Amino acid sequence: MAVDWSGLASEVLLTLDRGRSVPLRAQLEDQFRQAIRSGRLGVGDRVPSSRALAAALGLSRGLVQECYAQLQAEGYLVTRGGSATRVARAATRAGQAPSPPPPPPPRLVADFRSGVPDLASAPREDWTWAVREACRAAPNTELGYGDPAGHPRLREVLAAYLRRVRAAAASADQVVICSGMTQGLGLVLRALARQGLTRVAFEDPGPVAWMTATAAWSGLKAVPVPVDDRGVDVTALEASRAGAVVLTPAHQSPTGVVLAPERRLALIDWAARREAVIIEDDYDAEFRYDRDPVGALQGLAPDRVVALGTVSKSLAPVLRLGWIASPPRLAATLAGVKDLTDRGTPGLDQLALALMIETGRYDRHLRRMRAEYAARRDVLVQALAGHAPSVRLTGLAAGFHAVAHLSAGTAEQDVIQEARSRSVGLYGMSTYRSDHSPHPPQLVLGFGNTSQRAIQTGIALISDLLQSRH
Ligand SMILES: Cc1ncc(COP(=O)(O)O)c(C=O)c1O
Repeated sequence: MAVDWSGLASEVLLTLDRGRSVPLRAQLEDQFRQAIRSGRLGVGDRVPSSRALAAALGLSRGLVQECYAQLQAEGYLVTRGGSATRVARAATRAGQAPSPPPPPPPRLVADFRSGVPDLASAPREDWTWAVREACRAAPNTELGYGDPAGHPRLREVLAAYLRRVRAAAASADQVVICSGMTQGLGLVLRALARQGLTRVAFEDPGPVAWMTATAAWSGLKAVPVPVDDRGVDVTALEASRAGAVVLTPAHQSPTGVVLAPERRLALIDWAARREAVIIEDDYDAEFRYDRDPVGALQGLAPDRVVALGTVSKSLAPVLRLGWIASPPRLAATLAGVKDLTDRGTPGLDQLALALMIETGRYDRHLRRMRAEYAARRDVLVQALAGHAPSVRLTGLAAGFHAVAHLSAGTAEQDVIQEARSRSVGLYGMSTYRSDHSPHPPQLVLGFGNTSQRAIQTGIALISDLLQSRH
C-alpha cells in the first residue's frame, strides 16, 4: 500500500554528509535513488514537500526542487497536475522489482480445518463496546506500565470465572495473563526450565510440531506419549522420565477423547510421586454438549497442575488473550518471565475482557455459540450418516472438531488431495502423529468455522471418497 507521509522530512530517513566533497544535491539524489531501489520508498509513496524537506535538512528549497526535477527526469518520481510528488511506477524497474504477492489460496466450498471458531460470529459489537468503555473509564494511572502478571481486575474476574465454570481452585494471585495460550505454554516451559526441568512429555497424536518447537525454544526435550481411547497412557508417561506433561484432558486435541476418570487419578498420582507438573491445555472446554461436563484437572490438584486458558475459541484468535492458573510456587517465576518477554499483555484489552465477563456478555456469547456448534455437529453427524454411513465419527463430546475413521486400506493423503480438487479442505491425522504415520487413516474434521450448509455440501461432494472401498 502506498504511504502518504505527512510531508515532514523526518518521516523519510535521509542523511547528508556536509564534510564530503560530493555536492549536497548529488548526495540527496543518490539517497532517494537508493531508498527507491531498496524498496524503502515504495511505488505510489508520497515524498515530502520540497519546502518541508528543505527546512528539515537545512537546504534551500530550490536545491530540493532541482533534485526532484532530476529524479522525475530519470523516471523515479512523478507529479501529476499539481498534486504531491510520488514514487513512479516505473521506478521499480530501475531497481529490484518487488516480488508479486502470492496468489490467494483457492476458495473452498467447505473447509474442515480444525481449531478455528466461527469467525463470522465473533462478538464484534460487544468487544467494541468493551474496549471503548475500558478506554473511557480507565484513570490516567492505568495508562502506564501495569503489573506484568496482568491487570488485577482481570485476574480477579478470571479466577472467579474459572472457579465457577471449570471448578478450578484458583485465586487472583495465581493467575498470569498472557497473549494467548501459545505464549502461556512458552512462559510455563521457560519458568519450569529455570527450576530445573529438562524433559516435557506431550500427547501423541497432538500438535507435534508446535510442542517440539516450543520445548526446544525453552531449552527442553519434548517426548511423545501415546493417547488411546481413554486419554493419555499414564504408564508410558511414567516410563518417559519427563518431569512435566502437556495435556488436553477435557477434549484431547485432536482425537477428541475425554480423559477417563481412572486416568485422571493415575495422572495426579504420577505427578505427586514424581513431583512433576501437569500442564492442562483447556483450549475448548467452554463447548461441551453432554450433560455431565468434566471440571478442570487443576481443581483436583492445584499444587501440581498449571491450567492454560484462551479466548481464541470462545471469542476470536485475533484477540491474543489467554491466562495461566499456576501453583503459587510458580506464579512469581512466571510473572518474571512474562515481564522479560513483553512487560505485560496490553492493559486496555485486559480490562475489556474483564468487562465482557463481568457484564455477562461473555457467557451470553458462549451460550449462543454452544447452540450453534451443537447444531453444526448434528449436521455433520447426519451428513456422514446419509452420504458415507461406513465412516465412524468419534470425539464429539465437546469442542468443534471430530475424528472420521476411514476404512483400513484407504490412503489418507489421496483422499485429502482428491477432496481439494473438489474444493473441499480436509486434514489428516498423520500430521498430528509424531512418526507421521498415515495408519490408521483418519481425518480431523473441524466444523467451528464451517457453516451448516457448507458442511452438508462439502460432505456430499466427497461422499464417494469417504465410503468404504471394500
Ligand atoms: C489444542 C490447542 N491449544 C492451544 C491453542 C492455541 O491457542 P492460542 O490461540 O490461545 O495461542 C490451539 C490453537 O489452535 C489449540 O488447538
